Amino acid sequence: MKNISIIVAVAKNKAIGKDNKLLWHLSEDLKRFKRLTSGNPVIMGKNTYFSLPVRPLPKRLNIVITDILDEQIDNCIMAYSIEDAISKMDGTKENFIIGGASIYRQFMEHANKLYITWVHRDFEADTFFPEIDEDIWKVVSQEDFLETNEKNPYPYSYYVYERRSH
Ligand SMILES: NC(=O)c1ccc[n+]([C@@H]2O[C@H](COP(=O)([O-])OP(=O)(O)OC[C@H]3O[C@@H](n4cnc5c(N)ncnc54)[C@H](OP(=O)(O)O)[C@@H]3O)[C@@H](O)[C@H]2O)c1
Repeated sequence: MKNISIIVAVAKNKAIGKDNKLLWHLSEDLKRFKRLTSGNPVIMGKNTYFSLPVRPLPKRLNIVITDILDEQIDNCIMAYSIEDAISKMDGTKENFIIGGASIYRQFMEHANKLYITWVHRDFEADTFFPEIDEDIWKVVSQEDFLETNEKNPYPYSYYVYERRSH
């Protein structure tokens, strides 16, 4: 079994993106994302890949999922299905699913951990994170950052969920 984690920032109304962009800039959350994912594989859909300001993400194996069988992107590993992406993950590392909406939806059943940054506001969006079923997922840690500042303009909390063993 590969070690697969989802990492995402989600608004109160489950919004995660609009017009292939993020909905907010939270400096501390981006630093945490870099800290957690550096040295580990990051797996993403093609839309998310092309939304990255710096691509591929440095110091990480970038796996990009597409349906287009002959598509190649320099310095990335291409995967042509969810199963293909799983087979190309590193069995010795924590493999991070970094979006977007369609990829999160398809990986929910394969992940064993969720790193959710809850942004405590509703946002207008065109892409959303799926329901987190509490019968399946339990919260194992929570940190709240409710004071805002210039670089972190919205209150947010880090929640980590693990799959319940039934
Ligand atoms: N808030 C956050 O933390 C966060 C994180 C990441 C992304 N986002 C946001 O999410 C949005 C993008 O999400 P999205 O759902 O539009 O795009 P996406 O999931 O990034 O990419 C979708 C593409 O991935 C490929 N794909 C998906 N499932 C596949 C499968 N089973 N087999 C083969 N290829 C597959 C297809 O590429 P082809 O068309 O090439 O076949 C599809 O068009 C953006 O707004 C982005 O900013 C938010």
